[in-house]
Amino acid sequence: MLKGTIKLDGDKSLSHRILIFGALSNSKSTIYNLSKSDDVKRTINILKNCNFKIKTNEKFTTVYKSKINQKIKKFYCGNSGTTARFMIGFLPSIGISGTLYGDKSLSKRPMKRLLDSLLKMNVKIKTNKETLPIQFEKSNINPINFTLNHPSAQIKSALIFAALSSKETSIIKDPFKTRNHTENIIKFLGGTTEGYKKFSFKGFNYTIPGDISSASFIIAAALLVKGSNIKIKNVLFNETRTGFIKVLQRMGANIQLSNIRIECFEKVADINVQYSTNLKSVALKKSDILNMIDEIPIFALIACFAKGETRVNHAAELRYKESDRIKSIVFNLQKCGAKITEMKEGFIINKSKLLYNTSIKSFQDHRIAMMCEILYLVIQGGINHNKHKIIDTSFPDFYKHLGSLYE
Ligand code: S3P
Repeated sequence: MLKGTIKLDGDKSLSHRILIFGALSNSKSTIYNLSKSDDVKRTINILKNCNFKIKTNEKFTTVYKSKINQKIKKFYCGNSGTTARFMIGFLPSIGISGTLYGDKSLSKRPMKRLLDSLLKMNVKIKTNKETLPIQFEKSNINPINFTLNHPSAQIKSALIFAALSSKETSIIKDPFKTRNHTENIIKFLGGTTEGYKKFSFKGFNYTIPGDISSASFIIAAALLVKGSNIKIKNVLFNETRTGFIKVLQRMGANIQLSNIRIECFEKVADINVQYSTNLKSVALKKSDILNMIDEIPIFALIACFAKGETRVNHAAELRYKESDRIKSIVFNLQKCGAKITEMKEGFIINKSKLLYNTSIKSFQDHRIAMMCEILYLVIQGGINHNKHKIIDTSFPDFYKHLGSLYE
């Protein structure tokens, strides 16, 4: 069973964003609880390569602006889609030229839908390609009046970062209500989100709440392993990220929230989770899916234990993540005997008796790897000794926390 209380490193989405705002601020900023994930390290390295000063010690990270001096022309984004997309908007707008490239998986992910809007803002993209590597030149940004046509917070934020370099106002509307951390940070810094334009702000102190997407794997383990009772303190509880928790509560999961408060314009809560029998399937709305898009792999595993039929639909975006997550979820759960059927934009799951199968695989996708590890824990008992390095992409302390809670 899992027992005890933990705190997690800062949310990855917030970490990327706050580093960029630290780089834009007029003086030194101090960030507490920054994510230690490989993805966030990619963002840090790129900013350092542009001569921003970033220093990390055990307690905090400091960021300060200095004269941009581009030593490196090629910027490596690793596996991080967020780094790649943010940097395509951010770097040219602050006067940097170069090439962004990534690992094998990132090099297959779609960039065109972002590039089309950036071209309208006069971002000079030199390669006419739909994927990385992408070459760009420093650019004078034109304002834009744009309504998102894909439900992507990465696209929205890349456009906002570009817009923040212009003296003229851009209007960027998000009818999908994707995650709004970039907007919340702008408000925290005294700016406005009615329209986006250059604004000046001093260095700041910011504490990043725990990563709710990382928390979802620990929550799943506690729900499914008999006798468990855990608490995760200081977790980010922004409404655009809580689909997973809200849906699980509707399914009858024993999850309680406490100490709910607002810090730096973000909602934060402590989450208590107990072993839950009698989970039942519920109907999922489009907005539920959007608000739990990164949690769908681990949600699919939980759905195998819920009475009735669970339909995940309107989730076509899953095909463009670190792997084609619809395929990789269906492949692994089917191998373990799940009654799961693939659909074009999702899948259908019926309550199943799962048996562990050693031929399941991570598809080199961190969230699929963690789903497989929780599957191992729930079915086999204990923690798998063959550790998946790819998990460091988002949650380097995954095994440490599971180990400390499992008894
Ligand atoms: C993210 C947005 C989402 C999410 C990703 C992080 C962000 O991607 O899946 O893990 O930090 O803005 P999309 O913008 O592609 O939907």
